[in-house]
Amino acid sequence: MPKLIIEGVGEVNVESGMRLVLALSDNTADNVHACGGFARCTTCQVEFVSGEPQQCTQAELDVLERKNKSGDFRLACQSLVNDDMHVRVLMKFSESGRPDPGPRPENTITPAPEWVETP
Ligand code: FES
Repeated sequence: MPKLIIEGVGEVNVESGMRLVLALSDNTADNVHACGGFARCTTCQVEFVSGEPQQCTQAELDVLERKNKSGDFRLACQSLVNDDMHVRVLMKFSESGRPDPGPRPENTITPAPEWVETP
């Protein structure tokens, strides 16, 4: 089981292959996923302190490029926890002013992932 360190929360064990956004939500990471995990909003943004996946989805690249955010952060909804990782949640629900963190993302990556190497 991969170990996930969430800055400000601590270390948790996560089922291998779980979506990072769900691993954060299920471990009180105070995260946001406004679009429900469809690579549209970028509110699920995280910084990897270590263990950044070497692959990303084409949908992640596309939305970050559209918003001129390439290289600034990664999207938790487009990342899987396959190995140990240490992340910092960049957009906190408690500071967002939103009424809720967003609809719960599905268990599998949406949209259906086309994996590419992280630039
Ligand atoms: S981009 Fe909206 S939840 Fe990830």
